[in-house]
Amino acid sequence: MAHFDPNARPFSHQWLNERLAIDTLKRVLSTEYWIPKNINFLWAMGMILAATFGILLISGIFLLMYYLPDTKQAFDSVNYTIMSEVGYGWLWRHMHGVAASVVFLIIYIHMFTGIYYGSYKRGRELIWLSGMLLFVTFSAEAFSGYMLPWGQMSYWAGMVITNLFSLGSLDLQGLVEWIRGDYVPGQAFLGRFFMLHVLLMPLIIMALIVLHFGTLRIPHVNNQDGEEIDFEAEAEKWKAGKRKESKVIPFNPVFLSKDVFVMGVYFIFYFYLVFYHFEFAMDPVNFDPADPLKTPPHIYPEWYFLWSYEILRPFPKDPGLIAFGFAQVIFFLLPFLDRSPNVAPASRRKPFRCWFWILLVDMIVLTIMGKLPPEGIYTTIGTVAAWVFILLWVALPFITKMEKPIRGAK
Ligand code: HEM
Repeated sequence: MAHFDPNARPFSHQWLNERLAIDTLKRVLSTEYWIPKNINFLWAMGMILAATFGILLISGIFLLMYYLPDTKQAFDSVNYTIMSEVGYGWLWRHMHGVAASVVFLIIYIHMFTGIYYGSYKRGRELIWLSGMLLFVTFSAEAFSGYMLPWGQMSYWAGMVITNLFSLGSLDLQGLVEWIRGDYVPGQAFLGRFFMLHVLLMPLIIMALIVLHFGTLRIPHVNNQDGEEIDFEAEAEKWKAGKRKESKVIPFNPVFLSKDVFVMGVYFIFYFYLVFYHFEFAMDPVNFDPADPLKTPPHIYPEWYFLWSYEILRPFPKDPGLIAFGFAQVIFFLLPFLDRSPNVAPASRRKPFRCWFWILLVDMIVLTIMGKLPPEGIYTTIGTVAAWVFILLWVALPFITKMEKPIRGAK
């Protein structure tokens, strides 16, 4: 039976604790949530992502006050009203645009950190899968947001991407029209993507962030050596005052203070882009209003989608779609395709180390080729890079199966 002290002052610590168990919450989520000591600045990327999502939400709310989801007014509401008429409208727009772009840079760093250290294995499979769901929903959020200014690239990228749903020679035009709500992108299309961008996707992202944090609670975060730590025993050492001896630190205040430092460095970089190089997040073609009668000579997506776009491009219609679908889902399967028992950094896992670096370089090459026009040598390099991507994933179960057990990494 709960105990409520009638003399407790309303909203005092005791009063709140009796009703909300705030001491227990604080302990479980913060002061007794244990983090290994043996980690580096790359483990701050998760909190940086959470902070960047916060910036996107706040700046988005300000933009929403003046944005008009109407095909005749959307372009002007962004490029004139928000940029020149509303006080500091330009600042919120630059903050939103730059955050939408750098969030992907951080997501890729966070993903590749996980891959490098094997943080998707040994009880951490759900962390990886919930992370991948976040990647997909962030992609949908970014794509739907890109439609909103109703510029030339919004319109034509919307046309190309929704066309993919005709599924090549299956020619499902009915499905494409159902998604667009019309034969071509128009008012129904803009209204839907507006709803997705400002309501449905942010709600799903918030739920997934809670799930992602929840999946971290029991296995805890990995560490630089992949060492399997007995968190309870190490936490007891910390609580008993043997802080040097203990292999763990509490999330709050010790780990958080380090996170905040890395976040500070990140924010210097972020605001530098916001004030001096915001154009890096904005395509010049999108400063022309959407014109359904004028196809831009070269249609390409934002930089963070270029690698998967380049996997689609070099192949004929149907194989291209299959390769594109493969690129979208294959990262989900990583915990099950990596057959090695070792949880260790890639530097200690011989064949996997090569696999990791080839994959990283290959995705950078695909990104660069995706931006260049599909002609001459670019097509050749793009085709080779697309094949390398596919073959790397096909080879993964075989090369990891051959891996020898590493001492202390099982
Ligand atoms: C976009 C929103 C995301 C947020 C807010 C987020 C947040 C976090 C946080 C706070 C951590 C713990 C600290 C750290 O390792 O950085 C973490 C860990 C992790 N995240 Fe994410 N994450 C996101 C996306 C992703 C994505 C796209 C993936 C990849 C599939 C991913 C995979 C992981 C993995 C494997 C870990 C465990 C790292 C370890 O054990 O060392 N996350 N995430």
